[in-house]
Amino acid sequence: MGYKEIYARYRQQILAGHLKPGDRVPAIRVLASELQVARKTVETAYEILIGEGYFVSQGAKGTRVNPSLRLASTASVQTSAPSRSISLPVIESKGELRLGIPALDGFPHKKWLLISGKAARSLRSEEMLIPPVMGYQPLREAIASYLNISRGLNYQPEQIFITSGYRANLRLILAVLAQPNDKVLFEDPGYFFGQQLLKRIAPNLHYVPVDRQGMDVDYLQRYHADARFAIVTPTHQSPLAVSLSLPRKHQLLAWAQQSGSWIIEDDYDGEFHYTRKVIPALKSLDAHDRVIYTGTFSKTMMPAMRIGYLVMPQETLARFSELGEILETGLPLLPQKILAQFLSEGHFYRHIKKMRILYQQRRRMLLEAIEASFPGLFKFELTDGGMHIVAFLQRGIQDTALAALWRRHELCVRPLSGWYAQTQKRYGLVIGYTNIQSFEQAQNILQPVAAETLALMQS
Ligand SMILES: Cc1ncc(COP(=O)(O)O)c(C=O)c1O
Repeated sequence: MGYKEIYARYRQQILAGHLKPGDRVPAIRVLASELQVARKTVETAYEILIGEGYFVSQGAKGTRVNPSLRLASTASVQTSAPSRSISLPVIESKGELRLGIPALDGFPHKKWLLISGKAARSLRSEEMLIPPVMGYQPLREAIASYLNISRGLNYQPEQIFITSGYRANLRLILAVLAQPNDKVLFEDPGYFFGQQLLKRIAPNLHYVPVDRQGMDVDYLQRYHADARFAIVTPTHQSPLAVSLSLPRKHQLLAWAQQSGSWIIEDDYDGEFHYTRKVIPALKSLDAHDRVIYTGTFSKTMMPAMRIGYLVMPQETLARFSELGEILETGLPLLPQKILAQFLSEGHFYRHIKKMRILYQQRRRMLLEAIEASFPGLFKFELTDGGMHIVAFLQRGIQDTALAALWRRHELCVRPLSGWYAQTQKRYGLVIGYTNIQSFEQAQNILQPVAAETLALMQS
């Protein structure tokens, strides 16, 4: 390899945005050894890159991509254009009113940093090998203890299987326990991404309507009593945020016991309940071990952590253990170790408590701002918890156009009707409020869409 090729590679990486202004590049000697070329070859390439203004040399501090570099456009130098035939849902990295994320300004950075340092320094040699498939033992212990104390459960750490979150939970549960054509039930409306995944991996998928008391278990028994799996969000239904009523909880458990079916409880944001005491998990009423409880740290800590878990019923332990070893590799150990310490030192409890108070205030601020900006346009059926609200529109009004309008202004709301699988739909916007910092800020966020929203509604 000659200096021209090294020069061209760097230039391409910078123009494509993969290397950013300020990024450090390897020392000449290190790169020469890595590429197995003479030092002079790398030196020449670096000299040209410095000469053209792509790199700056900072003496003992090394060489960096020029921090003052401003690139006009990176579009033309992309090496591989994305395929046009695949349409993926857009997942925004910025924007307001996003659903399903915790308060990013509330993340306990200082504590996290402190614990991260300690965890990394104390990494033992056996912890540097392949991580255990079912999860880092101290984290399994900390999760079991948290669930037993906070969610009214009674688990052994051996029952906790740590995964990368909701989708991994569903994939694993079905891979271990389902026969290819088993009937799987999902709520309608139901979590958009859950529905997308299940359409792919569960060919015999059916839907059960949801009303003010949660999943309609009468409907389930009338039309789908033969189902093998029912996936529910009993604490705060996703997206309507209603809680499954106590009679329905018992009815659902009785059905699962009689039919030998599994209930998958998705307790994604059960921690955030405001006006009453935290609702115990459905699992806490499950005398016959028919509920597979699943949870995530995406709502309590951050989605980027990618740590979730499922709790294996006793009778399934051997099957999960055997197949888990074949299908999974275990999550990276260090983040698990940090999280374990965060939980076992009690910071997690304090953090949730703080967020619960914060979210309650933020929800109120957003509701007031919506009412002030769009008087009477939306109806709310407020429930006791959750991390988002549904702003209902009158029957028949198309929410997709409204959501598209808001999204053009970087307000990441979703149209409620898009979460329904069957024809009986309700309409509205599903709106996250956890990152609203004041009433004024909420008003400012809504202001750019105010006039167009009212015009659209009158058209
Ligand atoms: C209904 C529901 N379940 C589960 C999750 C958690 O997903 P994950 O653990 O993959 O981040 C979410 C996140 O938005 C959700 O809305």
